[in-house]
Parts: sequence; C-alpha cells; structure tokens
Amino acid sequence: MKKGVFLLLIAAVSALGGLLFGYDTGVINGAQFYLTEHFKLSDALKGWVVGSALLGCFVGAIVAGPLSIKIGRKWSLIISAILFTLSAYGSGLPEMFPQSVSMLVFFRILGGLGIGVASMNAPMYIAEIAPSNIRGRMVTYYQLAIVIGFFVVFLATYYIGNNLTVAENIEFGWRRMFWSELIPSGLFLILLFFVPKSPRWLALKGKDKEALTVLEQINDTQLASKEMLQIKNSLNQNNDGIKVSYFSKAILIIIAIGTVLSMLQQFTGINAVLYYGADIFEKALGFGKEDVLAQQILLAFVNLVFTFVAMFTVDKFGRKPLLYIGSVGMIIGFLLLGVTLQQENVGMLSLIGVLIFIASFALSMGPVVWVLLSEMFPNKIRSVAMSVAVAAQWAANYVVSQSFPMVMGSETNTSAPWNGSLPYFIFIAFILIIVFVTYKFIPETKGKTLEEIEGFWE
Ligand code: GLC
Repeated sequence: MKKGVFLLLIAAVSALGGLLFGYDTGVINGAQFYLTEHFKLSDALKGWVVGSALLGCFVGAIVAGPLSIKIGRKWSLIISAILFTLSAYGSGLPEMFPQSVSMLVFFRILGGLGIGVASMNAPMYIAEIAPSNIRGRMVTYYQLAIVIGFFVVFLATYYIGNNLTVAENIEFGWRRMFWSELIPSGLFLILLFFVPKSPRWLALKGKDKEALTVLEQINDTQLASKEMLQIKNSLNQNNDGIKVSYFSKAILIIIAIGTVLSMLQQFTGINAVLYYGADIFEKALGFGKEDVLAQQILLAFVNLVFTFVAMFTVDKFGRKPLLYIGSVGMIIGFLLLGVTLQQENVGMLSLIGVLIFIASFALSMGPVVWVLLSEMFPNKIRSVAMSVAVAAQWAANYVVSQSFPMVMGSETNTSAPWNGSLPYFIFIAFILIIVFVTYKFIPETKGKTLEEIEGFWE
C-alpha cells in the first residue's frame, strides 16, 4: 500500500472515533423532545437521561488509561466501537427490558463509556503513528471529525423528525435517531481491524521489531530507524535516568499543565453554546423552539468550516499562534454577545457574536488542545496523563453544561443578571487565563518528534 493512502486510512479510522464522539453527544439533542413525551419524563428525569452519557464519558476516560497500556490503543478503540454499537441499538429499544427508562439511561451511559475511551485513545493513536511534520494536521482530522459528527447527527435527526408526524416521532422517530448511529459505529468497528498497532505502544511493550515495521510503513527506512532509536532512548532514559514514578514532581507538573489546558477548553463555554444554542437565539432574537434544529445546523456548519483553517495552518504557524489568534476572536465574539444582550433590538449582532466565537474556537482551542494533549506527554506516561486530562475535561464539560442554564437564567426568570449575559463575561475571564497559560507554560511543538518534545520538559 502507498504511504499516503496508508496514512489516510489510519487517520480516517481513528477520526471515525471523533465522528462518533460528536454523533453520540449530539443525537440526544434531537431525540430528547420525543423521548420526553414517550416516557412522560419529569424535568429531573429528563436532565438525567440527557446528562447521563457525560457521566459515562468521565468514567470511560479514567478506565481508558490503564486499558490502553494493557491492551493497546487499537484494541481500546475496538472496545469503544463495540460500546457505541450496543448503545445505539439498545437506546432505541429500552422496552426490551422492564424499567425501560433506567435501561435507556444504562445504554446512554454505555455510549458515554465508548466516547470516554475513544476520546483519549483516538488522538493519542494518531499522534503516535503520524510523521512529525504533519502530526498537527492529522490530529486536527480528529477534531474535524467531532465537528462533522455534530453536523451529520443534526442533519440526520432533522431529516428523520421532519419526515414523520409528531405522533410517529413520539412512538418511534427517536428510536430511528439512535439507530442511525449504527452506520458510523459499524463502519468504525470493521475498519479498525485493518489498521496497525501504535509503534510507540509496541515499543513500550518491548515489541521493537513490530514497531519498526509499522514505522517503516509510514516513513522512509532511514527516518524510521532514527525514530525507533529516539523512541527506545526515551523509554530507556526513563527507566534508569529520570526514574518515572507517577508522583515525581516533574511528571506531576506536566500532567497538571495538560489537565488545566484541557479543562480550560471547556471553560471557554463552547459546549454551553452548542448544547443551548437554541435558548441563546431565543433570548437574543425571539426565535421559537420549532427552529431549534435548523439553528443548531448553522452553528455546527460554522464550526466545521473554521476547523479547516486550523487544519491547514497548525503545522505551518504552530500551535501557540493559533491559540492567541483564537483567544482574541473568542473574546471579541463574547463581548459582542454579552453587550448586545443587554440592549433592545440588536439581536442580529448577538447572533454574529455567537458565530465569531464559534469560528474562533474552531480554529484554535478546539483542535489545538487535542493536538497538544496528544503530543505533550512523555512516551512512558502518555496513557495515564491523557486519561487524567481527558477525564478532567469531561468533568468540566459536565459542570459547565449543568450550571449554564442557571447562570443564564430561565425564560421565566426576568431577574437574571444582565439579561442572561453573565455567563459570557465569566467565559471571557477564562479565555484570558488561556492566553496567560499558553504564554507561560505551553511549549511550541510544531515539527518536533514526540521524543524531542520530551526534551523540552527537561
Ligand atoms: C472539542 C471539545 C468538545 C466540543 C467540540 C466542539 O472537541 O473537546 O467538547 O464539543 O470541540 O467543536
């Protein structure tokens, strides 16, 4: 197989992990309207059905660390594909069992576990296998796939919902929404059997010959042996040189920086905007709830288009410049949104503010955090460190998305601070912290091999 084609296959497969991330978190947006009616859910139960997947994501990310050391990246991804498949099928048929609402929650958590496992393994796998000069772009495929997942699932649920009557939707439309995920999850599962194992994981397990073979399929022979040597060095050095204990101070600092960065990505407010976009539009423009999915498609589309900007610039300009540019854009977007929300009749400007924010996130914090997380940790601790940072990210996601409606104020609560604009000023404060952390603690990793990046920390 040609090297380029081979790399593309690897990227496509692991990016499907990203697609399922977006798809599975997004599918509930459309399905929840009908589910609520079908099961006559109370507000509290509805919150639980919608939020339960995030709990699974958190647990999945924690388990993923030890799992990916033990059975490797490839097999961890295969397990996540199986979880997605079971979840998609079961979520559509919870009545197979007594206690159907609990079963629905169970299947949603199962899907969450899949996302948790995939969300740390997919970018790590890509980074460990990609040649260093295009590693940033290849990990960005992963973010692109997440965003495509959101976009496709919004289109799919919109399409399914629109072609049925309300009664049909309440009876079985929501089932089809869940089942539609069987297509990407099945494809993911099948294709995964055709990709090689991560060379860095193979080396970690002492399977040097196999590792070298994989490296040679991707790089030319000379470069492959050079990388192999570097990988071996990085593993040996850690064995006797700076002895790797998970609790050594140096290691803890690196993990802390990654974890803070990962959580800050959520504290930009991206998922509040994506999950509650409809409520924001309703406040700003007086849009009705009927257009919810159409508006979400618009947000997902802007997110998608601007991720391409990152894809083509991340290995050219570097990671840090994108973070700076994106932060400025995100602040401008939220300032516009926050200020205009307090005025009368300037709703269109609020909408523009949201779009500027999303575009700026899409070309910076969205992809770059995944790129940095997948490459900043030393070989020996990458799995554990990634799993801590990614689990913390899911916890932050949960905190932001659960508290956002309260801080924004509900439709009936007109005394919400500053007409619902308070959250955006809080997010701006966090974005300023991002600029500081980037400046002070984040290494520029463009074009370096993973082993050269390890050198930076020394
Ligand atoms: C990043 C975030 C994820 C978010 C997505 C939106 O991947 O990690 O939480 O949903 O961007 O584009």
